[in-house]
Amino acid sequence: MRLLVTGGAGFIGSNFLHHVHRVMPDVTLVTLDLLTYAGNLANLAALEGSPRHRFVLGDIADRRMVNDLMAEGFDAVVHFAAESHVDRSIEDASAFVRTNVLGTHVLLDAARRHGVGRFVHVSTDEVYGSLGPEGRFQEDSPLKPTSPYAASKAAADLLVLASTRTYGFPAIVTRCSNNYGPYQFPEKLIPLFITNALEDKPLPLYGDGLHVRDWIYVEDHCAALHAILTRGRLGEIYNIGANGEMSNRALTATILRELGKPESLIRYVEDRPGHDRRYAIDATKLRSELGWAPAAGNAEWLAVTVRWYLENRSWWEAVKDGAYRSYFERMYRARLDASSAEPL
Ligand code: NAD
Ligand code: DAU
Repeated sequence: MRLLVTGGAGFIGSNFLHHVHRVMPDVTLVTLDLLTYAGNLANLAALEGSPRHRFVLGDIADRRMVNDLMAEGFDAVVHFAAESHVDRSIEDASAFVRTNVLGTHVLLDAARRHGVGRFVHVSTDEVYGSLGPEGRFQEDSPLKPTSPYAASKAAADLLVLASTRTYGFPAIVTRCSNNYGPYQFPEKLIPLFITNALEDKPLPLYGDGLHVRDWIYVEDHCAALHAILTRGRLGEIYNIGANGEMSNRALTATILRELGKPESLIRYVEDRPGHDRRYAIDATKLRSELGWAPAAGNAEWLAVTVRWYLENRSWWEAVKDGAYRSYFERMYRARLDASSAEPL
């Protein structure tokens, strides 16, 4: 199988590449990534020198480049590339609309033109909006995105689903809950709080800290995507979640306990505008159709994650102080500047 992975230098994409490289020895992998602030070649260091992996620098919204790449012929595409951080989308949604909506459209067109056999669109539970204290998101729950990020992902989902109906395009949409694990950019709650605590810096909890997220370890997400890529039904939506609901306050207390740091590091700060109160995923369809289940629960995976950040201090220090940019900027800046990406 020849597999194209977009956004493979980011958090989940890089974990997925490592997973597939390990469990599918016959797969040849091509990563397409623009190396935005969230992309980091250090995440792919373990694949360096592998004859089964190639890295391509490029923008998924660049029609010419995407077409040329797809013309090489791929059996499948797994599409992770996106602007992914809610707070950034509230500051300025332009890049979210360009990458998440236009970029997905460009990929879909090129994939259809060049006969890609399977297209897995990696989406999010945030497209469903916010829950009250009861209930869980099902695949047919209404789309009610609240942040510009979630709205751009919902728009992309609808383009993918429309292409399955209109053209019979062989795509699947996945909607996963909040991930954590190695290589997560320390702007997201868990890596930000672990690394701040390690530096004895404050942990900024938004609002009352009682917002609930449904946490899943990234490796469990990758295993679910692998099952969906190889055995999922075309034209379908699959929710992915591990029954991992926790309030931000409880999660923060767990992280501090794991690190042996005091709760006095917590600072209650102004709430995120439009902050969704609760997410919870019903993944019955994935579990019953494809036999997927998470390998462990949050207690075990959070301990593994805290240990990873303790043991990989050089990785996150280089991200936090900006040094991680210098390697690829030297390598790729000229090509990036010459990029033929079209404006929106
Ligand atoms: P991330 O921000 O860590 O990585 C995104 C990657 O996409 C980066 O490598 C970046 O360089 C690349 N990219 C951005 N714009 C690009 C462009 N125009 N062309 C090519 N590459 C580009 O994101 P993540 O947390 O790994 O999320 C990956 C996907 O999973 C996203 O689609 C996100 O919506 C979805 N998702 C994330 C979570 C989560 O908890 N992180 C949960 C559910 C779904
Ligand atoms: O649900 C899936 C989504 O999870 C993905 O689609 C997104 O790409 C991913 O970023 C994530 O979105 P969230 O907004 O839920 O993640 P974040 O880590 O930004 O925030 C998690 C919770 O913690 C949320 O309730 C906001 C809160 N928070 C976050 C930060 C960064 C804080 O209280 N303080 C913080 O500093």
